[in-house]
Amino acid sequence: MKALLLESIHPFAESILREAGFEVETRTGALDEPELVEALQGVDLVGIRSKTEITPAVLEKSAGLTAIGAFCIGTNQIALDEAAARGIATFNAPFSNTRSVVELAIAEIIAMARRLTEKDSSLHDGVWDKNSKGSHEIRGRKLGIVGYGNIGSQLSVVAEMLGLQVFFYDTDDKLAMGNAHRCDSLEELLETAEVITLHVDGRSGNAGFFGAEQFAKMRERALFLNLSRGFVVDYEALRENLLSGHIAGAAVDVFPTEPKKRGDAFHSPLQGIPNVILTPHIGGSTEEAQEDIGRFVASKLRDYVQRGTTTLSVNLPSLTLEERPGGRRITHLHRNTPGVLAKVNSILAEHGVNIEGQLLNTRGENGYVVTDVPQLPDAAVADLQAMPETIQLRVIGG
Ligand SMILES: NC(=O)c1ccc[n+]([C@@H]2O[C@H](COP(=O)([O-])OP(=O)(O)OC[C@H]3O[C@@H](n4cnc5c(N)ncnc54)[C@H](O)[C@@H]3O)[C@@H](O)[C@H]2O)c1
Repeated sequence: MKALLLESIHPFAESILREAGFEVETRTGALDEPELVEALQGVDLVGIRSKTEITPAVLEKSAGLTAIGAFCIGTNQIALDEAAARGIATFNAPFSNTRSVVELAIAEIIAMARRLTEKDSSLHDGVWDKNSKGSHEIRGRKLGIVGYGNIGSQLSVVAEMLGLQVFFYDTDDKLAMGNAHRCDSLEELLETAEVITLHVDGRSGNAGFFGAEQFAKMRERALFLNLSRGFVVDYEALRENLLSGHIAGAAVDVFPTEPKKRGDAFHSPLQGIPNVILTPHIGGSTEEAQEDIGRFVASKLRDYVQRGTTTLSVNLPSLTLEERPGGRRITHLHRNTPGVLAKVNSILAEHGVNIEGQLLNTRGENGYVVTDVPQLPDAAVADLQAMPETIQLRVIGG
């Protein structure tokens, strides 16, 4: 089987897949739609990061694809439902770079509170600007976290250790960590906190959800951070609030349109404004995080191909499966309608196949049943394949 890894994925991924018997091709940059379709011909597994878009058109023209590895956290660059409807499993690394993002957010909060970027550039320009005006400790300050998921909740813990008072708002009912205070509305959080940091996910409903109205509700001279997704914030509105002085500083790591490759030109309305830290989507880009992502996602892809395991798949029903030495394993992804399991089992019974083990799980429109059998006649495989509910049938081992 062949794997294509794009966007400079950590070499750990390549070695895990090679060791598992894959032929692996690696490329440094992202590919646009026509380039991607061409590159995917004859490819079974594709590994991407946040810049490559796997659209419905790409999926339609890439018939051999078995699984997609998103070597990052976000998966909104992938048409997940269409992939599931074609039986293509998708995996990501939801936890590997959480700590890296948290550490950057903390560093930036301190840097903005101390106006470090201004002091640094003055001194590089030969100006000794020793002055405490406008510089603050963060101890005791009120931090407002919007989105209390993997990153937001870990930031909450680390920020409390530094003496910040933590407030958060999440659309889901999330358990508060430590002494953090849950706000009942975004408005309550905006009116309370002196630093607002966004850690919401990239669902399409979040497009532009933070704009002029939300900045207006923030406290005078508050600080703002966005290390989540670029399209959730109206950066023209942020620019106006920075220029008027209502917002005292901002740290932005993500942008609505980001250059595809290292070295490409970049433009943003936030460039050139004092006490604004702009970073090129590096929140999760540490060597530690990349190494862990490479290991984590490549292992998920390998285990899916070799065992049928779908643990933590973002688009297929989840089944955790042991290795199956000897014998055969049938993985059957199907439309989730009543009676499919009975049909599978009656086909196997008709062909005299004994079932040694079986697991089923469903997720939305799809069902996934995995059956371990000692042997499997070709005619049984053909009958399972011919079931109208079958989306994808794989036979592993033997
Ligand atoms: N800058 C980087 O390099 C970098 C690295 C990793 C992750 N990220 C981004 O960080 C974000 C958070 O990642 P995570 O792993 O913590 O995600 P997560 O899914 O664990 O948490 C997101 C949380 O936001 C909440 N949420 C969604 N929409 C909301 C809204 N409008 N208001 C309030 N709460 C809302 C969800 O309920 C959830 O609890 C994602 O957008 C991810 O893509 C960026």
